[in-house]
Amino acid sequence: MKRLALAMRKYLAAAAVGLAVAASLVAISELGYHRSRNALDSLGSVRALQKSADQLGGALRAAESAQRGYLLTGDDFYLQQFEAESTRASAGLTHVKQALMSVPDADVSLSGLESTIATKMSEMSLAVHLRSKGHLDALEFVTSSDVGRTQMSTIAQLLDRLDQTTERLVSDSQAQIRTAQDYSRVGLTLAAFTGLLAFLLYLRRSHQLEQSVVKTNAALQQERERLEDLVRERTRNLRELATHLQQVREVDRAKLARELHDELGALLTSAKLSMARLKPKLPKDDDTIPPLMATLTDTLNQVIALKRNIIEDLRPSSLDNFGLLTALDILAREFQERSGVTVETNIEPATLDANAQLSLYRMVQESLTNVAKYAQAKQVYIGLRVYRQHVELTVKDDGVGFDQSVTQPKSHGLAGMRHRVESLGGRLDIQSAPGKGTTVFAAFPAAQRPPPAPEPAAQPAKPDAPDVA
Ligand SMILES: Nc1ncnc2c1ncn2[C@@H]1O[C@H](COP(=O)(O)OP(=O)(O)OP(=O)(O)O)[C@@H](O)[C@H]1O
Ligand SMILES: [Mg+2]
Repeated sequence: MKRLALAMRKYLAAAAVGLAVAASLVAISELGYHRSRNALDSLGSVRALQKSADQLGGALRAAESAQRGYLLTGDDFYLQQFEAESTRASAGLTHVKQALMSVPDADVSLSGLESTIATKMSEMSLAVHLRSKGHLDALEFVTSSDVGRTQMSTIAQLLDRLDQTTERLVSDSQAQIRTAQDYSRVGLTLAAFTGLLAFLLYLRRSHQLEQSVVKTNAALQQERERLEDLVRERTRNLRELATHLQQVREVDRAKLARELHDELGALLTSAKLSMARLKPKLPKDDDTIPPLMATLTDTLNQVIALKRNIIEDLRPSSLDNFGLLTALDILAREFQERSGVTVETNIEPATLDANAQLSLYRMVQESLTNVAKYAQAKQVYIGLRVYRQHVELTVKDDGVGFDQSVTQPKSHGLAGMRHRVESLGGRLDIQSAPGKGTTVFAAFPAAQRPPPAPEPAAQPAKPDAPDVA
């Protein structure tokens, strides 16, 4: 949380600095732009002023030349030229005045120039008028004076001063443009360096981020591996525990079967012997005794049969006595008799250790129990195929089948089968669908490890005494 707050503060500070730098760069650039724009505008106005002043000076000189030509020759051509240049000079003066208004920095007063030009123009117009009216004396008087020349030189001086002013303004504008260019250069250089700095910071930051992602991924990977190891370890423990429980169960069942056989069997045998000894000693004339004795004998026989079934169920003696092939055949035959379902078998003899044989027997037993409980089947097939490397067990029925995606929380039969097969190093495959029957298929290596050293209690039950109990 603290690290997050610190990182947030860093980001905000960096963003603030970035914004400030960007704002300064924009301000510098805008300042340079406006300065150069103003300088260019004022340069244009100054150029217009210069041009108007040049036109004015040219028009005045041309008017003076035309006036002289007329005074000397009296030719109307000069008169017309004089009038045209006079008009041009007036227009030039107006242009100069207008141009000067758009150059506020000029600081030039036109009043002197205006009045001198007006005087000069009137003097020239008067001389022309006198010449045109033929008043040559008066004309000589006017032209003999130095006034015209003086006025012309005053005008030239004033125009020169105006020219100097415009030159100064031009160089001021140029200086402004250069300053603006300098601003732009500084701005661009700063922008380039800031961009470079930002890029370097970005590279550094992304490198740091990459490093931290790599570190986090490595830590995650380590944690994942640790958890996977833990899961593997726990799964192995659970599997070992389940195997142990299954073995303990088989041992307990065998022990119980043996005790039932030894203890209960002995008691029942003793009861039968006592009955046999009692029979000749009973009075012959009592008619009620023979039926009672027959019922007693029958009950004793039923108890003996029940004991045998329980023992067989607890620990299949057929497996120990006759081997897997016969035990499975007996199991199939008894199932068919009990349930009425036709059982077809194809069981090949297999040399397997006791543990594998018992597992196979239990799997067929559980499969047949399931068929009886759920399948409503007409036919069941039990197949045991023995190959060089492995053994395959198939129990297939043509019953109602079931949906394998629906899990039954309190069902352990199929899970137990899977566990048995996996602890033999094999795999279990169940194929079923509603209406399609069920096939339980198990495959496991033919060469089994030697079974765990049998405990005394795990010894198979002795075969029942067939005739007595
Ligand atoms: N041959 C079969 N035909 C139809 N349904 C079956 C068959 N075998 C198993 N099933 C279905 O699969 C479920 C799981 O069977 P499983 O043997 O694991 O448990 P169970 O028989 O219900 O209980 P448990 O075997 O623990 O006493 C059954 O409840 C049943 O719905
Ligand atoms: Mg079951």
